[in-house]
Amino acid sequence: MPPFLETAVEIAREAGGLLAHYFDRRVAFELKGEFDLVTEADRASEALIVERLRAHFPSHAIVAEEGGGHETASEYRWYVDPLDGTTNFAHGYPVYNVSIGLERAGELVAGVVYDPSRGEMFAAEAGAGAYLNHRRIRVSACPKLEASLAATGFPNYLRTKNANIHFYYQLALASHGVRRGGAAAIDLAYVACGRLEAFWEFGLKPWDMAAGVLLVREAGGAVTDMHGRPFSLQGPHILANNGHTHEQILELFGEIFAGRNRHRMPAVEASL
Ligand code: IPD
Ligand code: CA
Ligand code: CA
Repeated sequence: MPPFLETAVEIAREAGGLLAHYFDRRVAFELKGEFDLVTEADRASEALIVERLRAHFPSHAIVAEEGGGHETASEYRWYVDPLDGTTNFAHGYPVYNVSIGLERAGELVAGVVYDPSRGEMFAAEAGAGAYLNHRRIRVSACPKLEASLAATGFPNYLRTKNANIHFYYQLALASHGVRRGGAAAIDLAYVACGRLEAFWEFGLKPWDMAAGVLLVREAGGAVTDMHGRPFSLQGPHILANNGHTHEQILELFGEIFAGRNRHRMPAVEASL
């Protein structure tokens, strides 16, 4: 394969450096939806990534979150999240990343998630494994949901229509806990390197997931939707995990979808 991954790594590193520079200056945010933040750093990072990708691969299509993409008829399609974790970023909370994934004829073939705060470059190529700063990574061997650590996220739009708090509650009580880091691509990268056993979320976009999904697969994990059906970048939800906890999580999710919760949420007075 041409050096798609190497080029994406180089571009992600450059864009991550640019983000880190803005992060230190603390940039102002604007709202693109009621609670959906965007900053000049998102736009500057996207402009840089799209310019570099177009220079290297002029015929390829690019789908980029802030709208700076480039539609072509190519079988190659890049998915660019120039700043994943914008809400964190805008508040000075150092959990954010650059995420770049590449699809060929509908199959994910390369993916990079770069976290400039920790200097961590996660990279994967289809059939060639997943790496963190050049060292091979694998999903955790933990076999049990009750001994696992999971993560999820909540979307920035239609927040009152999102039922994820029910899944959060049941999963938190069935495991060591559920983290909400605020950057979906980092959550997926952490499943790939074994820091988390599982991640799920409703309503993510292709640029949030493309690179991270390939990382999880190449690290030996499983990715489906929350019913256990084949994963789609356009799908309504994602469940990624180390493979060993998959069935247990699907069983729990199945109960929640059917309205049979293992634990009722306590009344507030119960904590007083
Ligand atoms: C968001 C983050 C967050 C997730 C949201 C995403 P953005 O991406 O990944 O963790 O919960 O659903 O929209 O907007 O910061 O690129
Ligand atoms: Ca994102
Ligand atoms: Ca983003």
